Amino acid sequence: MRVVSGIQPTGNLHLGNYLGAIRNWVRMQDNLGEGEQCLFFLADLHAISMPHDPAELRRATLEMAAALVACGIDPARSVLFNQAQVHAHAELQWLLNGTARMGWLNRMTQFKDKSGKNREGASVALFTYPVLQAADVLLYQATHVPVGEDQKQHLELARDIAQKFNNDFATEDAPVFTLPEPISPPQAARIMSLRDGSKKMSKSDPSEMSRIELADDPDTVMKKIKKAKTDPEPLPSEEKGLEDRPEALNLVTIYAALTDKSVDDVLADFGGEGFGKFKPALGEVLVETLRPISERFTGLLEDREALDAILARGAAQARQIAVPTLDATYKALGLVRG
Ligand code: TYM
Repeated sequence: MRVVSGIQPTGNLHLGNYLGAIRNWVRMQDNLGEGEQCLFFLADLHAISMPHDPAELRRATLEMAAALVACGIDPARSVLFNQAQVHAHAELQWLLNGTARMGWLNRMTQFKDKSGKNREGASVALFTYPVLQAADVLLYQATHVPVGEDQKQHLELARDIAQKFNNDFATEDAPVFTLPEPISPPQAARIMSLRDGSKKMSKSDPSEMSRIELADDPDTVMKKIKKAKTDPEPLPSEEKGLEDRPEALNLVTIYAALTDKSVDDVLADFGGEGFGKFKPALGEVLVETLRPISERFTGLLEDREALDAILARGAAQARQIAVPTLDATYKALGLVRG
């Protein structure tokens, strides 16, 4: 088993990333068997697909590295690096551009969402973004890719690209790429905005009240939960009763994920109660979960040299795995390199 996943260093780490992805990364790392390996990276190359400020990207990349370590990614056990430090990512993307089809990319919902009405003005990088994402995982022969629901379509594309490349340029007994399997945690694969239960919690939402950030202090967390949108009804005693109540379902889902319970278990405790009682309980669980993470985060940010060293070491380890796949890809395509 080889686990590979990435996160964009745009904005700060929020609860959706944590419960939808990072906490699961840490669990996978903690349960690795003999010969198994985890690689986690900051997708800084992906971040330039949207308008960005270079100084801000540099800051956010280092902060996201610190946040991942604070959440429990251990650089001694997992390979932790940033994409731009391993040039094989950008190179393999170009090589895969020959295999990816326009029709496949045209179907990607993220491009439609992020380009909005201004499709002509969107960057080419935003369109070919999923090909870079395919390169990210295929480069390491990833077998498992933990992602939230929103990234599953990109992983399907990575499989399609790998399959077509193997069919077109390799033999069945010596494929160049392994087909990666997307995996999502059973609970909390999708955490929604605190202001609108139909939108996912996101770094790009202009309202800070829509998300809990991992560096939020306890007062801020309590305030955001108190102000989270809800409805006047009390909580039902079963999940079925939350069907048309997306905001209420989101808060109960967050509570369930934080306490490792099912939504039904949480409702068995809180069914019949109003939000006046549920919200403070949720706020407390959140504050207790975030406290150790934000303490470690602040400490790590003060030691810039140590962070640089972690990323340099991770990149060197990543390159060792990436280069043989990159060489095999050039060779399979018939490209002459001397
Ligand atoms: P990104 O940076 O948007 O998000 C990182 C991870 O967090 C998950 N996630 C969520 N899960 C639940 N609820 C939410 N509200 C929520 N918001 C984000 C995402 O599903 C993701 O798993 N393109 C990717 C980064 C990437 C990548 C890769 C991932 C680049 N290359 C290769 C896996 C493999 C992205 O922008 O994720």
